[in-house]
Amino acid sequence: MNILRDELKRDLMNRGFSRRNFGRIAAMITAGATLPFYNEPALAQLSKVNAPPDAVLLNANENPLGPCKEAREAAAAMIQHGGRYRYSEGDRVQQLLSEQEGVKLDYVRIYAGSSAPLHQAVLAFTGPKRPFVMGEPGYESGAGAAAFIGAETIKVPLMKNNAYAHDVKAMAAASPTAGLIYICNPNNPTGTLTSASDIEWLVANKPAGSVVMIDEAYTHIAGARFHTDMVAADKDVIVLRTFSKIYGMAGLRAGAAIARPDLLRKLGGFSAGMMPITGMAAASASLEAKYVIAERRKYIAGVREETYSFLEKHNFSYVPGKSNCFMIDVKRPVREVISALQAEKIYVGRPWPVWPTHMRVTVGLAEEMKRFQDAFRKVMA
Ligand SMILES: Cc1ncc(COP(=O)(O)O)c(C=O)c1O
Repeated sequence: MNILRDELKRDLMNRGFSRRNFGRIAAMITAGATLPFYNEPALAQLSKVNAPPDAVLLNANENPLGPCKEAREAAAAMIQHGGRYRYSEGDRVQQLLSEQEGVKLDYVRIYAGSSAPLHQAVLAFTGPKRPFVMGEPGYESGAGAAAFIGAETIKVPLMKNNAYAHDVKAMAAASPTAGLIYICNPNNPTGTLTSASDIEWLVANKPAGSVVMIDEAYTHIAGARFHTDMVAADKDVIVLRTFSKIYGMAGLRAGAAIARPDLLRKLGGFSAGMMPITGMAAASASLEAKYVIAERRKYIAGVREETYSFLEKHNFSYVPGKSNCFMIDVKRPVREVISALQAEKIYVGRPWPVWPTHMRVTVGLAEEMKRFQDAFRKVMA
Protein backbone atom coordinates (compact mmCIF):
# COMPACT_ATOMS: atom_id res chain seq x y z
CA MET A 1 0.00 0.00 0.00
CA ASN A 2 2.61 2.50 -1.14
CA ILE A 3 0.03 5.20 -1.47
CA LEU A 4 0.10 5.61 2.34
CA ARG A 5 3.10 7.48 3.68
CA ASP A 6 4.96 6.05 6.68
CA GLU A 7 3.96 8.95 8.93
CA LEU A 8 0.34 8.41 8.00
CA LYS A 9 0.65 4.68 8.65
CA ARG A 10 1.96 5.42 12.14
CA ASP A 11 -0.90 7.82 12.76
CA LEU A 12 -3.40 5.20 11.55
CA MET A 13 -1.93 2.55 13.85
CA ASN A 14 -2.23 5.00 16.77
CA ARG A 15 -5.92 5.39 15.98
CA GLY A 16 -6.38 1.63 16.23
CA PHE A 17 -6.15 0.62 12.56
CA SER A 18 -4.27 -2.50 11.65
CA ARG A 19 -2.42 -3.14 8.41
CA ARG A 20 -5.52 -5.04 7.28
CA ASN A 21 -7.46 -1.73 7.14
CA PHE A 22 -4.98 0.08 4.93
CA GLY A 23 -6.56 -1.18 1.72
CA ARG A 24 -9.90 0.45 2.42
CA ILE A 25 -8.24 3.70 3.38
CA ALA A 26 -6.16 3.67 0.23
CA ALA A 27 -9.40 3.04 -1.70
CA MET A 28 -10.90 6.16 -0.19
CA ILE A 29 -7.84 8.18 -1.00
CA THR A 30 -7.84 7.14 -4.62
CA ALA A 31 -11.55 7.96 -4.77
CA GLY A 32 -10.67 11.48 -3.62
CA ALA A 33 -12.26 10.63 -0.28
CA THR A 34 -15.68 11.45 -1.69
CA LEU A 35 -17.33 8.12 -1.25
CA PRO A 36 -19.85 8.05 -4.08
CA PHE A 37 -22.44 6.33 -1.93
CA TYR A 38 -22.42 8.67 1.06
CA ASN A 39 -23.26 12.16 -0.10
CA GLU A 40 -26.59 13.93 -0.29
CA PRO A 41 -27.45 13.16 -3.93
CA ALA A 42 -26.46 9.52 -3.44
CA LEU A 43 -28.42 9.31 -0.20
CA ALA A 44 -31.35 10.98 -1.92
CA GLN A 45 -31.44 8.07 -4.35
CA LEU A 46 -32.77 6.04 -1.43
CA SER A 47 -36.05 7.90 -1.76
CA LYS A 48 -35.98 8.70 -5.47
CA VAL A 49 -36.55 6.39 -8.40
CA ASN A 50 -36.34 7.99 -11.83
CA ALA A 51 -38.37 11.11 -11.20
CA PRO A 52 -40.26 12.25 -14.31
CA PRO A 53 -39.22 15.64 -15.76
CA ASP A 54 -42.28 17.41 -14.36
CA ALA A 55 -41.74 16.06 -10.82
CA VAL A 56 -41.27 18.38 -7.85
CA LEU A 57 -37.90 17.56 -6.27
CA LEU A 58 -37.95 18.25 -2.53
CA ASN A 59 -35.67 15.33 -1.76
CA ALA A 60 -32.05 16.48 -1.63
CA ASN A 61 -32.00 19.88 0.10
CA GLU A 62 -31.07 21.55 -3.17
CA ASN A 63 -31.72 25.19 -3.93
CA PRO A 64 -34.18 25.43 -6.83
CA LEU A 65 -33.06 29.03 -7.47
CA GLY A 66 -29.74 27.69 -8.79
CA PRO A 67 -26.65 29.88 -9.12
CA CYS A 68 -27.18 33.65 -8.97
CA LYS A 69 -26.97 35.65 -12.22
CA GLU A 70 -23.38 36.73 -11.60
CA ALA A 71 -22.31 33.14 -10.96
CA ARG A 72 -24.00 31.87 -14.12
CA GLU A 73 -22.25 34.50 -16.19
CA ALA A 74 -18.88 33.82 -14.59
CA ALA A 75 -19.18 30.06 -15.13
CA ALA A 76 -20.27 30.55 -18.75
CA ALA A 77 -17.35 32.88 -19.41
CA MET A 78 -14.97 30.32 -17.89
CA ILE A 79 -15.93 27.50 -20.26
CA GLN A 80 -13.65 28.78 -23.01
CA HIS A 81 -10.70 28.30 -20.62
CA GLY A 82 -11.77 24.75 -19.86
CA GLY A 83 -8.60 23.34 -21.43
CA ARG A 84 -6.50 24.84 -18.64
CA TYR A 85 -6.07 23.88 -15.00
CA ARG A 86 -6.03 27.56 -13.94
CA TYR A 87 -5.19 27.02 -10.27
CA SER A 88 -5.66 30.76 -9.85
CA GLU A 89 -9.45 30.29 -9.92
CA GLY A 90 -9.30 28.26 -6.71
CA ASP A 91 -6.80 30.72 -5.21
CA ARG A 92 -9.31 33.51 -5.79
CA VAL A 93 -12.04 31.66 -3.88
CA GLN A 94 -9.57 30.99 -1.07
CA GLN A 95 -8.64 34.69 -0.95
CA LEU A 96 -12.25 35.90 -0.90
CA LEU A 97 -13.29 33.38 1.73
CA SER A 98 -10.36 34.23 3.98
CA GLU A 99 -11.29 37.94 3.78
CA GLN A 100 -14.98 37.33 4.38
CA GLU A 101 -14.49 34.78 7.16
CA GLY A 102 -11.81 36.76 8.97
CA VAL A 103 -9.17 34.03 8.92
CA LYS A 104 -5.67 33.92 7.46
CA LEU A 105 -5.24 32.58 3.95
CA ASP A 106 -3.63 29.33 5.06
CA TYR A 107 -6.65 28.58 7.27
CA VAL A 108 -8.81 28.04 4.17
CA ARG A 109 -8.66 25.03 1.89
CA ILE A 110 -10.82 24.93 -1.20
CA TYR A 111 -12.70 21.84 -2.33
CA ALA A 112 -15.27 20.89 -4.96
CA GLY A 113 -18.09 20.91 -2.37
CA SER A 114 -17.97 19.97 1.30
CA SER A 115 -18.50 16.19 1.10
CA ALA A 116 -14.79 15.63 0.44
CA PRO A 117 -13.47 17.48 3.51
CA LEU A 118 -16.21 15.89 5.63
CA HIS A 119 -15.07 12.41 4.60
CA GLN A 120 -11.42 13.39 4.83
CA ALA A 121 -11.88 14.59 8.41
CA VAL A 122 -13.38 11.21 9.31
CA LEU A 123 -10.36 9.53 7.73
CA ALA A 124 -7.95 11.91 9.41
CA PHE A 125 -9.29 11.85 12.97
CA THR A 126 -11.33 8.69 13.62
CA GLY A 127 -10.43 5.02 13.78
CA PRO A 128 -11.17 1.81 15.68
CA LYS A 129 -10.03 3.50 18.90
CA ARG A 130 -11.24 7.02 18.02
CA PRO A 131 -15.03 7.13 17.54
CA PHE A 132 -17.02 9.53 15.41
CA VAL A 133 -19.73 11.31 17.47
CA MET A 134 -22.81 12.88 15.89
CA GLY A 135 -26.41 13.88 16.63
CA GLU A 136 -29.37 11.64 15.86
CA PRO A 137 -31.20 12.04 13.58
CA GLY A 138 -28.32 13.58 11.67
CA TYR A 139 -26.62 13.84 8.31
CA GLU A 140 -25.41 10.30 7.63
CA SER A 141 -22.44 11.06 5.42
CA GLY A 142 -19.72 11.09 8.11
CA ALA A 143 -21.10 7.93 9.73
CA GLY A 144 -20.98 6.26 6.31
CA ALA A 145 -17.32 7.13 5.93
CA ALA A 146 -16.60 5.97 9.49
CA ALA A 147 -18.32 2.61 8.86
CA PHE A 148 -16.36 2.18 5.64
CA ILE A 149 -13.02 2.44 7.45
CA GLY A 150 -14.09 0.54 10.57
CA ALA A 151 -14.49 3.41 13.05
CA GLU A 152 -17.37 3.35 15.52
CA THR A 153 -20.07 6.03 15.27
CA ILE A 154 -21.74 7.12 18.50
CA LYS A 155 -25.12 8.71 17.82
CA VAL A 156 -26.42 11.05 20.50
CA PRO A 157 -30.16 11.89 20.30
CA LEU A 158 -31.08 15.52 19.69
CA MET A 159 -32.76 17.11 22.72
CA LYS A 160 -36.51 16.74 22.43
CA ASN A 161 -37.07 19.14 25.31
CA ASN A 162 -34.77 21.77 23.83
CA ALA A 163 -36.03 22.35 20.30
CA TYR A 164 -34.02 19.41 18.97
CA ALA A 165 -30.66 21.08 19.50
CA HIS A 166 -27.55 18.89 19.73
CA ASP A 167 -27.03 17.55 23.26
CA VAL A 168 -23.50 18.90 23.59
CA LYS A 169 -23.07 17.65 27.16
CA ALA A 170 -23.90 14.09 26.13
CA MET A 171 -21.75 14.41 23.02
CA ALA A 172 -18.74 15.57 25.05
CA ALA A 173 -19.30 12.64 27.43
CA ALA A 174 -19.94 10.08 24.66
CA SER A 175 -16.37 8.77 24.56
CA PRO A 176 -13.16 9.90 26.27
CA THR A 177 -11.29 8.95 23.09
CA ALA A 178 -13.63 10.60 20.58
CA GLY A 179 -11.74 11.41 17.39
CA LEU A 180 -14.22 13.74 15.71
CA ILE A 181 -17.37 15.34 17.12
CA TYR A 182 -19.70 16.48 14.35
CA ILE A 183 -22.17 19.32 14.83
CA CYS A 184 -24.41 20.18 11.89
CA ASN A 185 -25.87 23.63 12.48
CA PRO A 186 -28.66 23.93 11.52
CA ASN A 187 -29.00 20.18 11.54
CA ASN A 188 -29.89 18.06 8.55
CA PRO A 189 -32.60 16.58 8.52
CA THR A 190 -34.38 18.57 11.26
CA GLY A 191 -33.31 22.11 10.34
CA THR A 192 -32.97 22.83 14.06
CA LEU A 193 -30.28 25.02 15.61
CA THR A 194 -27.76 24.50 18.37
CA SER A 195 -26.89 27.66 20.28
CA ALA A 196 -23.50 29.33 19.93
CA SER A 197 -23.04 29.08 23.69
CA ASP A 198 -23.57 25.30 23.55
CA ILE A 199 -21.07 24.96 20.71
CA GLU A 200 -18.56 27.07 22.64
CA TRP A 201 -19.13 24.90 25.70
CA LEU A 202 -18.49 21.76 23.64
CA VAL A 203 -15.24 23.09 22.21
CA ALA A 204 -14.07 24.07 25.70
CA ASN A 205 -15.09 20.75 27.31
CA LYS A 206 -14.54 18.07 24.64
CA PRO A 207 -12.14 15.23 25.39
CA ALA A 208 -8.50 16.18 24.90
CA GLY A 209 -7.24 15.24 21.46
CA SER A 210 -10.63 15.29 19.74
CA VAL A 211 -11.62 17.72 17.01
CA VAL A 212 -15.01 19.43 16.67
CA MET A 213 -16.28 19.73 13.11
CA ILE A 214 -19.03 22.29 12.59
CA ASP A 215 -20.90 21.72 9.34
CA GLU A 216 -22.35 25.09 8.35
CA ALA A 217 -23.91 23.95 5.08
CA TYR A 218 -27.22 25.60 6.00
CA THR A 219 -26.06 28.37 8.34
CA HIS A 220 -26.55 31.17 5.79
CA ILE A 221 -30.11 30.04 5.24
CA ALA A 222 -30.92 30.07 8.97
CA GLY A 223 -29.16 33.41 9.48
CA ALA A 224 -27.35 31.79 12.39
CA ARG A 225 -23.91 32.60 13.69
CA PHE A 226 -20.85 31.22 11.91
CA HIS A 227 -18.06 29.70 13.99
CA THR A 228 -15.05 30.72 11.96
CA ASP A 229 -14.08 33.03 14.84
CA MET A 230 -13.25 29.88 16.81
CA VAL A 231 -10.99 28.79 13.97
CA ALA A 232 -9.32 32.22 13.95
CA ALA A 233 -8.76 31.72 17.69
CA ASP A 234 -6.87 28.48 16.90
CA LYS A 235 -9.33 26.11 18.57
CA ASP A 236 -9.54 22.42 17.61
CA VAL A 237 -12.36 23.25 15.22
CA ILE A 238 -12.97 22.59 11.55
CA VAL A 239 -15.72 24.60 9.86
CA LEU A 240 -17.21 23.24 6.63
CA ARG A 241 -18.52 25.62 3.96
CA THR A 242 -20.41 24.69 0.84
CA PHE A 243 -21.73 26.61 -2.15
CA SER A 244 -24.35 23.89 -2.72
CA LYS A 245 -27.07 25.40 -0.57
CA ILE A 246 -27.68 29.16 -0.34
CA TYR A 247 -25.60 29.76 -3.48
CA GLY A 248 -27.46 27.05 -5.43
CA MET A 249 -24.32 25.41 -6.81
CA ALA A 250 -24.79 21.74 -5.83
CA GLY A 251 -24.09 20.63 -9.40
CA LEU A 252 -21.37 23.19 -10.14
CA ARG A 253 -19.35 22.23 -7.01
CA ALA A 254 -17.42 24.45 -4.64
CA GLY A 255 -16.78 24.30 -0.92
CA ALA A 256 -14.12 24.74 1.72
CA ALA A 257 -12.70 23.52 4.99
CA ILE A 258 -11.66 26.32 7.35
CA ALA A 259 -9.32 25.31 10.16
CA ARG A 260 -5.88 25.71 11.66
CA PRO A 261 -3.20 24.83 9.10
CA ASP A 262 -2.03 21.79 11.09
CA LEU A 263 -5.57 20.35 11.01
CA LEU A 264 -5.95 21.15 7.32
CA ARG A 265 -2.65 19.41 6.64
CA LYS A 266 -4.08 16.24 8.15
CA LEU A 267 -7.08 16.49 5.84
CA GLY A 268 -4.77 17.36 2.98
CA GLY A 269 -3.11 13.97 3.15
CA PHE A 270 -6.31 12.66 1.60
CA SER A 271 -6.84 15.30 -1.08
CA ALA A 272 -7.23 14.59 -4.77
CA GLY A 273 -6.42 18.04 -6.09
CA MET A 274 -7.90 19.88 -9.07
CA MET A 275 -10.97 22.07 -8.79
CA PRO A 276 -13.51 22.59 -11.59
CA ILE A 277 -12.81 26.10 -12.88
CA THR A 278 -16.46 26.76 -13.72
CA GLY A 279 -17.39 26.01 -10.10
CA MET A 280 -14.55 28.18 -8.82
CA ALA A 281 -15.51 31.12 -11.06
CA ALA A 282 -19.13 30.82 -9.97
CA ALA A 283 -18.08 30.63 -6.30
CA SER A 284 -16.00 33.83 -6.54
CA ALA A 285 -18.83 35.64 -8.32
CA SER A 286 -21.30 34.45 -5.65
CA LEU A 287 -19.10 35.73 -2.85
CA GLU A 288 -18.81 39.09 -4.58
CA ALA A 289 -22.57 39.39 -5.19
CA LYS A 290 -23.27 40.63 -1.70
CA TYR A 291 -27.05 40.83 -2.05
CA VAL A 292 -27.46 37.09 -2.63
CA ILE A 293 -27.48 35.77 0.93
CA ALA A 294 -30.04 38.19 2.34
CA GLU A 295 -32.32 37.93 -0.70
CA ARG A 296 -32.33 34.15 -0.73
CA ARG A 297 -32.64 33.78 3.01
CA LYS A 298 -35.75 35.93 2.85
CA TYR A 299 -37.24 33.99 -0.03
CA ILE A 300 -36.63 30.57 1.52
CA ALA A 301 -37.90 31.71 4.94
CA GLY A 302 -41.05 33.14 3.34
CA VAL A 303 -41.89 29.88 1.55
CA ARG A 304 -40.99 27.80 4.61
CA GLU A 305 -43.16 29.85 6.99
CA GLU A 306 -46.04 29.78 4.53
CA THR A 307 -45.75 25.99 4.47
CA TYR A 308 -45.75 25.93 8.28
CA SER A 309 -48.99 27.98 8.26
CA PHE A 310 -50.52 25.39 5.93
CA LEU A 311 -49.42 22.54 8.22
CA GLU A 312 -50.86 24.29 11.27
CA LYS A 313 -54.12 25.12 9.55
CA HIS A 314 -54.60 21.42 8.78
CA ASN A 315 -53.38 20.21 12.17
CA PHE A 316 -50.27 18.40 10.98
CA SER A 317 -47.41 18.23 13.44
CA TYR A 318 -43.95 19.25 12.34
CA VAL A 319 -40.58 20.26 13.72
CA PRO A 320 -40.20 23.98 13.01
CA GLY A 321 -36.67 24.06 11.60
CA LYS A 322 -34.93 27.21 10.38
CA SER A 323 -33.25 25.74 7.32
CA ASN A 324 -34.34 24.85 3.80
CA CYS A 325 -35.72 21.57 5.14
CA PHE A 326 -38.02 20.51 7.96
CA MET A 327 -39.69 17.35 9.22
CA ILE A 328 -43.37 16.50 9.36
CA ASP A 329 -44.64 13.76 11.68
CA VAL A 330 -46.97 11.82 9.40
CA LYS A 331 -47.91 9.51 12.31
CA ARG A 332 -47.62 6.37 10.23
CA PRO A 333 -44.71 4.59 8.57
CA VAL A 334 -43.10 7.34 6.53
CA ARG A 335 -42.22 5.05 3.63
CA GLU A 336 -45.93 4.75 2.81
CA VAL A 337 -46.29 8.50 2.55
CA ILE A 338 -43.06 8.90 0.57
CA SER A 339 -44.35 6.36 -1.98
CA ALA A 340 -47.83 7.86 -2.12
CA LEU A 341 -46.34 11.31 -2.76
CA GLN A 342 -44.14 9.90 -5.52
CA ALA A 343 -47.28 8.67 -7.25
CA GLU A 344 -48.30 12.36 -7.26
CA LYS A 345 -44.86 13.25 -8.70
CA ILE A 346 -43.69 14.83 -5.46
CA TYR A 347 -40.29 13.54 -4.28
CA VAL A 348 -39.43 14.14 -0.61
CA GLY A 349 -36.47 13.09 1.52
CA ARG A 350 -35.32 9.60 2.45
CA PRO A 351 -36.47 8.06 5.75
CA TRP A 352 -34.43 8.37 8.96
CA PRO A 353 -35.08 5.01 10.65
CA VAL A 354 -34.66 6.45 14.16
CA TRP A 355 -37.69 8.69 13.50
CA PRO A 356 -39.81 6.24 11.50
CA THR A 357 -42.86 8.50 11.14
CA HIS A 358 -41.05 11.71 10.23
CA MET A 359 -40.67 12.91 6.67
CA ARG A 360 -38.02 15.41 5.57
CA VAL A 361 -39.23 17.99 3.10
CA THR A 362 -36.91 20.43 1.33
CA VAL A 363 -38.24 23.95 0.84
CA GLY A 364 -38.80 24.40 -2.90
CA LEU A 365 -40.16 27.29 -4.94
CA ALA A 366 -43.46 28.79 -3.79
CA GLU A 367 -45.33 27.17 -6.69
CA GLU A 368 -43.67 23.80 -5.99
CA MET A 369 -44.75 23.97 -2.36
CA LYS A 370 -48.34 24.58 -3.49
CA ARG A 371 -48.17 21.34 -5.47
CA PHE A 372 -46.66 19.64 -2.44
CA GLN A 373 -49.46 20.93 -0.20
CA ASP A 374 -52.21 19.67 -2.53
CA ALA A 375 -50.58 16.26 -2.88
CA PHE A 376 -49.85 15.98 0.84
CA ARG A 377 -53.45 16.70 1.81
CA LYS A 378 -54.67 14.15 -0.71
CA VAL A 379 -52.24 11.48 0.52
CA MET A 380 -53.00 12.12 4.19
CA ALA A 381 -56.79 12.27 3.75
C1 LIG B 1 -25.16 18.80 6.28
C2 LIG B 1 -24.51 18.61 4.96
N1 LIG B 1 -23.19 18.65 4.88
C3 LIG B 1 -22.55 18.48 3.73
C4 LIG B 1 -23.25 18.25 2.58
C5 LIG B 1 -22.45 18.02 1.36
O1 LIG B 1 -22.82 18.73 0.27
P1 LIG B 1 -21.79 19.21 -0.83
O2 LIG B 1 -20.77 18.15 -1.04
O3 LIG B 1 -22.65 19.44 -2.01
O4 LIG B 1 -21.17 20.45 -0.29
C6 LIG B 1 -24.64 18.20 2.60
C7 LIG B 1 -25.42 17.95 1.39
O5 LIG B 1 -26.60 17.95 1.38
C8 LIG B 1 -25.29 18.37 3.84
O6 LIG B 1 -26.61 18.32 3.96
